[in-house]
Amino acid sequence: MNLARFPRRRYTPNATAIEPMSHLSAALGGARLFIKRDDQLGLTAGGNKTRKLEFLVAEALAQGADTLVTVGAVQSNHCRLTAAAAVREGLKCRLVLEQRVPGSYDPAASGNNFLFDLLGVESVTVVDAGTDLAAAMNRVKDDLAAEGRKGYVIPGGGSNPLGALGYVSCAEEILQQTFDMGLSLDRIVVASGSAGTHSGLVTGLLGNSAGIPVTGINVRRPRAEQEGNVHALAEATASFVGSSVPVPRDAIVCRDEWVGPGYSLPTPEMVEAVRLFARTEGVLLDPVYTGKAAAGLIGLVRSGEIARDETVLFVHTGGAPALYAYQPVLSAV
Ligand SMILES: Cc1ncc(COP(=O)(O)O)c(C=O)c1O
Repeated sequence: MNLARFPRRRYTPNATAIEPMSHLSAALGGARLFIKRDDQLGLTAGGNKTRKLEFLVAEALAQGADTLVTVGAVQSNHCRLTAAAAVREGLKCRLVLEQRVPGSYDPAASGNNFLFDLLGVESVTVVDAGTDLAAAMNRVKDDLAAEGRKGYVIPGGGSNPLGALGYVSCAEEILQQTFDMGLSLDRIVVASGSAGTHSGLVTGLLGNSAGIPVTGINVRRPRAEQEGNVHALAEATASFVGSSVPVPRDAIVCRDEWVGPGYSLPTPEMVEAVRLFARTEGVLLDPVYTGKAAAGLIGLVRSGEIARDETVLFVHTGGAPALYAYQPVLSAV
């Protein structure tokens, strides 16, 4: 796929590592587990949004924007990384924060919330779940225009076809790396939220005829709704990138057994996964996304749905700063 046609900023100098998780494999009694360290991408504290922002911010700069405007949950990694990209580019950043859990915004909270302030975010607008988020961001953009400034609106999670190119590119990176390592993957497991990461990976893998299925682990939505979202974005991304390979509906798998009571709400399986990754591999997950995705990976291995002899790549999409806002939940075991 010719991604060089799309303007791109570079925030990570090299490919992120693919590492074996042999202690975790041993602890689970099977499956050959590997991890893609996208938690080590560039910008402040890394994570998947860095890859999407490389394309989105390039467009913002091309349009002459001076301010990035985006939306996320109250502990949003995407908002932290958008603020970091703004700092890197000499731009400003304004945020809309959605209280997906009623009353969850605490201006004094630690984790990503603290980093919004540290990274110099100009303004935070807090809205309740169910608010029209695009309209809320457009109001921020209009306020900027009234001041003679120019905002560039980035959708939640950076999940549109332009942002998803970041994970089309990641799919190609994985294929090149696993070829160099002599590693033949049977499956990729990844957290599935605003859908850009999952969709981009599927689009990139299909477009390269990789034959590697992706198992998405939902963090918020029921299975059918999430699969519809991922499929629609994968089709839009494939068309945007000029791929003639169709995205079959059954190529999209979004498991919802590890969401628990809802987005960002802790589950015992998430707590176990965060602690197990830390203690077997020294890898910090996060409580909202990768903790639940890893709980799914562990559950699928234990149930035998991922076979003992499968070679599986878990994409670590970052988020560790949010750990510090969840310390009581995670350390009280
Ligand atoms: C750490 C982390 N992992 C995974 C995701 C999910 O990625 P996506 O929104 O592209 O589905 C997010 C989204 O915010 C995230 O912050």
